[in-house]
Amino acid sequence: MTTVVRKPAEFRRACDDARADARSVGLVPTMGALHDGHLSLVEAAKIRTDFVAVTIFVNPLQFGAGEDLDRYPRNFEDDLAGCRKRGVDLVFAPAPNAMYPAQFQTNVSIGDLATPLEGECRPAHFDGVTTVVAKLFNLTGPCTAMFGRKDYQQWKILARMARDLDMPVEVVGCPIVRELDGLALSSRNRYLSDTERARALGIVSGLRAAHDAWAEGERHPDALRSLAAKQVQAGFDRVDYVAAVDPDTLVPPTEAPSGLLIAVAAHLGTTRLIDNVVLGADPRP
Ligand code: PAF
Repeated sequence: MTTVVRKPAEFRRACDDARADARSVGLVPTMGALHDGHLSLVEAAKIRTDFVAVTIFVNPLQFGAGEDLDRYPRNFEDDLAGCRKRGVDLVFAPAPNAMYPAQFQTNVSIGDLATPLEGECRPAHFDGVTTVVAKLFNLTGPCTAMFGRKDYQQWKILARMARDLDMPVEVVGCPIVRELDGLALSSRNRYLSDTERARALGIVSGLRAAHDAWAEGERHPDALRSLAAKQVQAGFDRVDYVAAVDPDTLVPPTEAPSGLLIAVAAHLGTTRLIDNVVLGADPRP
């Protein structure tokens, strides 16, 4: 049975009760509009833990001015049906004022990992993410938390935050789930027109070009980056970045890398997509 709670104190109590019953807690934080990528996080949580909690909250703090907060897809009934079908134990779906009551004024902010890539394009974004996830970790208590590696930088930042702040949370990064043609699943894919959906494959072609070159022995970050950038630029209206960086520090490597993160953010019309591959670690997208 899936229990739905709306109040932070109810959520905390349900997680405490599960642990008091000797059940380990798995946390899957989401903003709803659940797709198979989110549901793979639920499956990963079910494999590792005894009691799975999904949070559904479109966090206003992580959207900048002019971003898609208002049109972000919200369909609680469908999300709940998906959670029920997968045997989720607890759904926490708070209202914004339950998470951020009047006079809320605390911000959790992390350092260098939040500066490049998404941090450059969306300046307040990661403070919003770390603040809400710190709250969710505090409410949940000791747990294993699942995040998708499509938001690669977010995953790295949240793992760093949990370590730096001694939070009793194991942060797990789960593989990107893709459509058959390679497009990474995203709640924002539903904004794409048919033509844009076809052009979106430019990201996948770019990541594949870099992956293939790596497999053939290319190790020069600029060369790998350019191969990816060429394909992305051909398909997209505007490119925020195509980066080749160290997968742990997120800065360009200074010597021949043993692994390389190729990360992309680009726009099709009013839709912004991100994707990535870790060369030397991930399978071909
Ligand atoms: O990845 C997301 O959906 C969000 O950034 C998260 C982690 C749920 C925080 O709002």
